[in-house]
Formats: sequence, structure tokens, C-alpha cells
Amino acid sequence: MLTGNRGFKKTLSRLSDATMPGYYGGVMKRQLSSFAFICALVFSLSLTAQSPSLNIQVDHPTAKVSPMLYGLMTEEINFSYDGGLYGELVKDRVVGRGFGGLSHWTMAAGWNSAVNISMDDKTGPSAALTRSLKVSVTAATERAPAGVQNDGFWGIPVRPRTTYTGSFYAKTDNAGVPVTVSLQNDQTGVTAAKATVTGLTGEWKQYTFTLKTADVPVSSNNHLILTMPKPATVWFDLVSLFPPTYHGRVNGNRIDLMEKMAAMHPKFLRMPGGNYLEGEHIPDRFDWKKTIGPLVDRPTHPSPWRYRSSDGMGLLEFLEWCEDLKIEPVLAVYAGYSLAQEHVDPGPALEPYVQDALDEIEYVTGSADTKWGAVRAKNGHAAPFPLHYIEVGNEDWFDRSGSYDGRFAQFFKAIKQRYPEQQVIATAPVKGVTPDVLDEHFYMSAEKSFSDANHYDKTDRKGPKIFVGEWATREGDPTPNLQSALADSAWMTGMERNSDIIIMESYAPLFVNVNAGGMQWPSDLIGYNALTSYGSPSYWAQVMFGSNVGTEVVASTLANTETRVYASVTRDEKRRKIFAKVVNGTSEAQALSISIEGASKIAPQAKLTTLSGKTPNATNTITHPDAIVPVVKSVPVTGPKFQQSFAPYSVNVLELSY
Ligand code: AHR
Repeated sequence: MLTGNRGFKKTLSRLSDATMPGYYGGVMKRQLSSFAFICALVFSLSLTAQSPSLNIQVDHPTAKVSPMLYGLMTEEINFSYDGGLYGELVKDRVVGRGFGGLSHWTMAAGWNSAVNISMDDKTGPSAALTRSLKVSVTAATERAPAGVQNDGFWGIPVRPRTTYTGSFYAKTDNAGVPVTVSLQNDQTGVTAAKATVTGLTGEWKQYTFTLKTADVPVSSNNHLILTMPKPATVWFDLVSLFPPTYHGRVNGNRIDLMEKMAAMHPKFLRMPGGNYLEGEHIPDRFDWKKTIGPLVDRPTHPSPWRYRSSDGMGLLEFLEWCEDLKIEPVLAVYAGYSLAQEHVDPGPALEPYVQDALDEIEYVTGSADTKWGAVRAKNGHAAPFPLHYIEVGNEDWFDRSGSYDGRFAQFFKAIKQRYPEQQVIATAPVKGVTPDVLDEHFYMSAEKSFSDANHYDKTDRKGPKIFVGEWATREGDPTPNLQSALADSAWMTGMERNSDIIIMESYAPLFVNVNAGGMQWPSDLIGYNALTSYGSPSYWAQVMFGSNVGTEVVASTLANTETRVYASVTRDEKRRKIFAKVVNGTSEAQALSISIEGASKIAPQAKLTTLSGKTPNATNTITHPDAIVPVVKSVPVTGPKFQQSFAPYSVNVLELSY
């Protein structure tokens, strides 16, 4: 019907063009009967009444914007940590624990040298790491050394004038044999950096080294090579190499990906999953106690996403990630359900899991004189972390046994008894107790996100608050396209408008390694390879919403627009700002007559940030990372009523000062 109105409007405008100049100029080009003129005038008036408009009542707040909007959701999927955020450059550094066996470790020998490599499951550097990489050099010289090499996560990146910090555990049957570590380009054979480690003995010990590159070109196709200049057998494990990390953290994170997250201005990180929390089987869950302390004491574990996690990104590293972004964790605790329909019955059998969760909360929040706070301090972080939200499980509606009601109640009561101030989140509707918050997930087509954008407009306000803990419009692969960003934004206007009840949201999944074989779940917010990363259009939509939140939702009415035009308006009382988010999901520019009520003055210029593209399929890729990025411009505001046009296929934030 509205489309019909617009067609009608065009027709009328053509009609006016033909007649009105004659009328005002006093020169009638054609004879127009007074009856026809009156008809045209009536048409014209009805057009004015029906022109697309956005009315904003600044002095009429309808809800507080939740201080937890917006956030991040994360888990080990799509090589998000290993081969992603976690800075480690060596793939399968814990030898033989990966599902690929030694596929990332190969022999390094030339014409005049010889070596055998194998996995030795009789010796390893610790009780947790009981296997190792056995490298038996049978012929080698200084000029023709032999050893083993690792190809990294789809290549090892090398940059000029950069310091890489490395380490390995090793022992040998030929004490004193030196190990030369180098970074070598696969194509050119040029060595970018080299160091020699000495002092190996017959006992397992950790050795460290530094690799410094000179003016080498940037490249991602390098191997890390460890060689010996004479016959010897050397056992290696936990071979590690880190580039510079965000905030210079030891065992830290990739700088570009941390910067991309920081630009989203998130408020929290939901961690550590997702399915990754649950594991395929109960022993494969995220067993947090096995992810803390020295790396050599972390046994690693299989992720449900079909590869093994190094657990270098353990509980403390998640917390430090939050600390570096100045955000809070939303801590998901394992709740006795794993994906292969395995569950633990509520009651005594579940008690150890409940205790694990209580210990975990103490590890996060306890002072250094509590049992688990002391462990955290020993692990290198004396200060407790802020924590207000604890999620019990993940997507427990999948548990066909119906045990979640009982499991949730048991966790809820234990957590509330010990930590009454914590907000406890359920992952499925429950009856036994009333959760503080319910986590709801939506993975949608663009059509669904657009058509369901008002999903929460009529939600009952008497129930628990809602955390949209995973959601996305899934069009585009490996990362979502502009159509997804438009549909996401439409959906976000609905969440924002209702943020009295939608207290948190986090898009998922966050990351994907775009190399072949890197993705298990298509449509992910941020893509990367070994060297570079990019934000999808949906990422930029998150940046725009997260950077322009406001403190209160104000009443606004969008009228007479095409379908697929959406808006939500917030204000920031202290900063005297209005943030009008307008989504134009159509192929035509959308001119809106904007009226602002309840403000004594409005600044004559506004800031308009626009994300748009020529077609809904337009997107960003690793080779064209900036095809769709927000553009900022200043636009005139002629008074409390003004016109503003919004580009075809666009997400917009209009920031007004009042
Ligand atoms: O985000 C990908 C997966 O989708 C999550 O691991 C799971 O919680 C959901 O089903």
C-alpha cells in the first residue's frame, strides 16, 4: 500500500510540475479548469500529510538504554583463538594432540643431511603433556643441518623490524647439541631471522629465544625451522613463537583483532561459549581448571568444532582480554550437558559441577586471600575481575532429557546463596526458579531479520530480562554481506528500542579464519588470515550502534515510509546528544521529514554516519577489506523540522546536538 502511495506521489509531482509554474507565474500555458486545480491542490495536501517522516520526542524517554548494550560473544570456532586472536604462530605446538597428527610438522633436511621425525608417546615435558616430537638427525653438519619445521596456521607471518619471542621444551640424547631456530620464506628460501639455543641435556627443560627481523618484506608464507648441526635425537614439545601482542601481554592476543573489537565499544564478553563450553562429550567440556597456570600444565582438549584447542586461551587469558578492552566477562559455567545428548542428573551427581562453577566465580572475583583468588594471584593476576552476570550452560533447550529445569535450579540456588549480587542467566525457559535473565538466540535469513525487527515490541515486561546472547543475519560467506548488515541493523533497532528488557546482545560468531578449511560456521563478523583482518559490513553496523548508544530511548514515530525502513532513537542527557539510527533497506533513497519535539534548541549541523553500498550483495573481503565502510559527513539542520535523505541500502546514525 505504501509503495502504491509513493508511485502516486511521483505521478502527482509530475502533474504539479506541469501545472503549478503556470499558476504562480500568472501565465497559463494550458487551460486548467478550476475544478482540476482544486483536485490537484487536494492531492498535494494529502501528499504532504503522507510524506515519509520521523518524529522524535526528545523530552519523552520511554526506557533507559541498558548500560550493557552492546557486547561480544566468543568461543573456539573457525580458528578463533588458535590461528586467530591468540597470538601463537606455531600450529599444533603441543605435539600429537591435534587431530592431524604430525601434519603441521615436517622434516627439514637437505642433500647432505638426514632426519626422521615421529611422535613419541612415551615421553613428554609434564604430567599434562605426555607425548613429544622425536627428531632423530642421522646425518648433519654445520653447513647441512637437519631438523623439523612447522608451517603455522596457513603460514607464519613475518614483518620487518619485528621481535618474535619463542620457546620450546626439549631434551636430547646428545647433550650440548645446539638447536638453530629460524624463520624462512617458503618461496624465496630467505631466512628472515635466526637464533641458536644451547645447553640441551637429557632432562626436559624449557628454552627461550628471540627472533628479530631486519628489513625483510612483509610475507605470510614462512616456516619456523628447528635444526641441529650434527647427529642427535632431540625431543621437542610446546614449541611456541609469538609476535608482538596487544598491550605487550606475554601469551597475549593479536593486535589488529583486539583493535577491531575495541572499535566496537563493547560492554562485555560472553565467554567461553557457545558449544565450546559444552563440548561434544562431558569430558570435552571447557574444564576451566585445566586451562589455567603454566602452559605446560594444560593438557589441551578437543573442541566440538572438529579441532583441538591448545588452551593457550584459558580462563585467565579470557579475563585479561576483557581487562584489555575495559569490559566485563559474562561468565558461562558448564552446567552438566554436552552436545551428544549427555547430561548429568540434577542432585548429588551434579554437585561437583556446581562446586566447579562456584570455584570458577571465586577465581574470577575472589580476593587473593580466598582459595581460588590465591590461585589466580599465583597465575599472575592478583586483582579480582569485575563480574555481574553468570550464565548457566548454553542452549539447554537442546537437552532432550528435560533435565535443565532441575540443573538450572541447583546452580541458581548455589550461586545466589554464595553470590547473591550476581545475575544468573538461564539458556532455556525454566519453571523451578525464576532466572534473572533469559538468553535467547536467533540465526536468521535477511527476510526474517527484517520482518521480525519488532520482535520485542510487545514482549511481556513481567518476565526475566532478556539477553540476546547469539544472533546474526546469515547471508554471506565467510563473512556477512551488506544485506545482512541492513537486516542486522533493522533487528538492532528493535533491540535498542526495547532495551528496558533487552539488557544485552552479542552477535555470533565473532571470528573466522578465511583460509580454506578455517571455517566451520559460515557468516562471521570479522575475517582474517595470518597477516591481515577485515570487518564485514555487519561488523561496521555493530561499530556504528556500539559507538552511538545513548542513555535513554526516546519516543519516535516513523510514518509513511517504504517497508524495510526502520529507526530507533536514543538521547544522551548529559552530553545533550540525540542518536537517530535509520536503516534504509530499499533500493531507493529515503527522504525523511524529521521533526524534533521537546528540545529548546537544535544545533544547525548534525553528524551523519552512513554505511551503504550499491547492491545488497556488496561486501568486504580479505583482499577488498574496505569496500563497505562507514562514511561520516556533516549535514545541515535547518530547525526542529528538517529534511534528510538516507541513501539506498544504508545504515545511518544521525547525531544531533540539542
Ligand atoms: O555460534 C555458533 C553456535 O551456534 C554456538 O556455538 C552455539 O551456541 C549455537 O548453536
